[in-house]
Amino acid sequence: MDWQSHYLSRLTSSDEAVKRIKSGDRVVVGHACGEPSALVDALVANAAEYRNVEIVHMVPMGTSPYCAPGMEEHFIHNSVFVGSPTRAAVNSGRADFTPVFFYKFPELLSTGLRPDVALVHVSPPDQHGYCSFGVSVDYTKTAAEVAGIVIAQVNPNMPRTLGDSMIHVTDLDAIVETDDPIIELGAPVPSEVEMRIGEHCASLINDGDTLQLGIGAIPDAVLRFLTGKRDLGIHSEMFSDGVVELIEAGVVTNARKQLHPGKCVVSFLMGTRKLYDYADNNPAVFMAGVEWVNHPMVIAQNDNVVSINSCVQVDLQGQIVSSSAGLKQISGIGGQADFVRGSAFSKGGRSILAIGSMAKGGISKIIPFINEGSAVSTLREDVNYVVTEYGVAELAGQTLRERARRLIAIAHPEVRGQLQDEYERRFGNLDKTIGR
Ligand code: COA
Repeated sequence: MDWQSHYLSRLTSSDEAVKRIKSGDRVVVGHACGEPSALVDALVANAAEYRNVEIVHMVPMGTSPYCAPGMEEHFIHNSVFVGSPTRAAVNSGRADFTPVFFYKFPELLSTGLRPDVALVHVSPPDQHGYCSFGVSVDYTKTAAEVAGIVIAQVNPNMPRTLGDSMIHVTDLDAIVETDDPIIELGAPVPSEVEMRIGEHCASLINDGDTLQLGIGAIPDAVLRFLTGKRDLGIHSEMFSDGVVELIEAGVVTNARKQLHPGKCVVSFLMGTRKLYDYADNNPAVFMAGVEWVNHPMVIAQNDNVVSINSCVQVDLQGQIVSSSAGLKQISGIGGQADFVRGSAFSKGGRSILAIGSMAKGGISKIIPFINEGSAVSTLREDVNYVVTEYGVAELAGQTLRERARRLIAIAHPEVRGQLQDEYERRFGNLDKTIGR
């Protein structure tokens, strides 16, 4: 059978396609802005037919309706990165959470967490019968390669991204055509605090550096301060619209990268239609699975890698908590540890942890002790810089005493006194002048 005939023979409706899922199956759902929303909606509409269907998913950009109260009779959500639609379910015990390095997640899908069904979102086939995973190659490609059944939402709005980002039509078991808009993440307008953090981070970036940008408003703010730099490169698990602006301005050229010079290397995209149109059919954007893009030894093949990520808490030793506050699961580790390690292995590489000094509700992010139950995501030995709106604390190579002193100096002024009291208890020798 030629691929065109295979395509037509597998064409079905979303309601019919999800009937192939059986109670007790493990279903892996395509990631982030690549979530196949029509398939997820059909799955949830068919909930009455299922018992104990495990739904494995990472960054939730849709509404995650399988997490709604009452759905636990039908679905068990196994989250790898909690977001606002899934946080209540995970923290109330209606859903589970699996900690795993992002670069190791595809391996887990191939072994202990092998899916019965993968729900994926792809571009229409090209003249050779290949569909592109579009905005999300990450773990989605591996999920489709190892699943028993692959159900694909085929959508002309999905950009045809290039690299190691394709699946052949003959590997799809059910095909559902839609033309829904791809999920977008609007470019956030950075606050004044985020702008100050962005400016401090930008001061640590040199011409020719290769950047990894984490998730959230702060990495976006950093990009705004890079317009005066030259020949920056991108090797990042994700990026958003801000990078396109820097490419158009001639700031990001990827010219000095050792690995895939001239190309942005990335595993998933989260942005607006502008970003997706830029990536469509564009050989300057090389997309591949996260097991390769995020592998620390791959990252380190570039010199001068700078990783920029955010976190939830930093203690006075420089230990980084990125995904929890006490036992409350707030997000996931994502690729933070992968890129912090990768930048540590990179010749001339550096890691930046950038935070607002206060979380919502006036909780200091710089704290004397990590809360009971919080999980350390990034070791104190791996952190080069912590940045807040009050400045930069360079921690690498510093003593415990000096780390604490530098972190207090960039904490919010309201809590510096309290942190200094702890400093004095620990080290004596109080320096009353810090930050006062
Ligand atoms: N104590 C208690 N709650 C905290 C907190 C703290 N110290 N810090 C953040 N939170 C809560 C916020 O109140 C908010 O809750 P809400 O959504 O119910 O209002 C939630 O955590 C998210 O915080 P916010 O500051 O809005 O998030 P952000 O979009 O700036 O992202 C991280 C910050 C830390 C959650 C995010 O950067 C992350 O997940 N990082 C770790 C993973 C990573 O770096 N991956 C690499 C790229 S994927």
